[in-house]
Amino acid sequence: MNVDDAIASRMSCRAYLPTPVPEATVRAILEAARRSPSGGNLQPWHVHVLTGGPLTELLADIRRKLPQSPRGGGGEYDVYPPELWEPYRSRRYQCGEDLYATIGVPREDKLARLRQFARNYEFFGAPVGLFFFIDRGLGPPQWADVGMFMQSVMLLAREHGLHSCPQEAWSAWHRTVGEFLRVPAELMLFAGMALGFRDEDAAINRLRTERAALEEFASLQGF
Ligand SMILES: Cc1cc2nc3c(=O)[nH]c(=O)nc-3n(C[C@H](O)[C@H](O)[C@H](O)COP(=O)(O)O)c2cc1C
Repeated sequence: MNVDDAIASRMSCRAYLPTPVPEATVRAILEAARRSPSGGNLQPWHVHVLTGGPLTELLADIRRKLPQSPRGGGGEYDVYPPELWEPYRSRRYQCGEDLYATIGVPREDKLARLRQFARNYEFFGAPVGLFFFIDRGLGPPQWADVGMFMQSVMLLAREHGLHSCPQEAWSAWHRTVGEFLRVPAELMLFAGMALGFRDEDAAINRLRTERAALEEFASLQGF
C-alpha cells in the first residue's frame, strides 16, 4: 500500500468486527508511528491501548454512568468554539446530517441520535481502544504534533488491513478514563481512537465525507 492509497482508504469507521487485533500488530503500528515529526522533537504523545478484559471493564464502567450523564462529565477543553462560523459551521452540520442519514435517523429523533453518539463510548464495537494524552502544560504546537502522530497511526493501520476512528468524544470522560488508566495528573486526555477490522456490511460505514476543493484552501504561487 502506498501513502496515497492509505490516505484515500482511511475513513472514520464506526462499526467493527469482533475479530481481535494481535498485540504484535498494535506494537508494529506504534513502533512505526514513533517516526512522526514534532517541533523540537518533543514527541509529546502518550498513548494507552486497551483490549480484552481491561477494555471491557472500562466500557462497563462508562455504561453504568451513561444514563446519568449521557454526554459524559464534560471535557477539559472545547472540542469546538462555542459558536462556529462559516464555512466550518456548515461543514460540521453536513457531516452530522450525512452520518445519521446512513442509518436512517432523522434530525428530530434526538433519542436515536444520542444512542448513536453513545456508541463512541463503546469504541463502536472495536476490539482495541487507544487513548492519546498530552502534558497539560504544552501548547497548540504540541497538540498539532499529537494530531500528526494520530494520523500516522491511522495510516499505518490501513497498511495492516485495519480501520480506525479518532474520537474527541472521549474527552468528556477524561476523569473516568484517567482514573482507570492511573495516568499522572499532568496528562490531559485529548482523544480516543477505535481500531479494528471494518464491518463491511454496516450501513454507517458507507459514509464518505466531502472535502473542499483545493482552490478553497490552497494558494500556489511562483510555479
Ligand atoms: C481529532 C478528531 C476527533 C474526532 N472525534 C470524533 C468523535 O468523537 N466521534 C466520531 O464519530 N468521529 C470523530 N471524528 C471523525 C470526524 O468526524 C471525521 O474525521 C470527519 O468527519 C471526516 O470523515 P472521515 O474521517 O471519514 O474522512 C474525529 C476526527 C478527528 C480528526
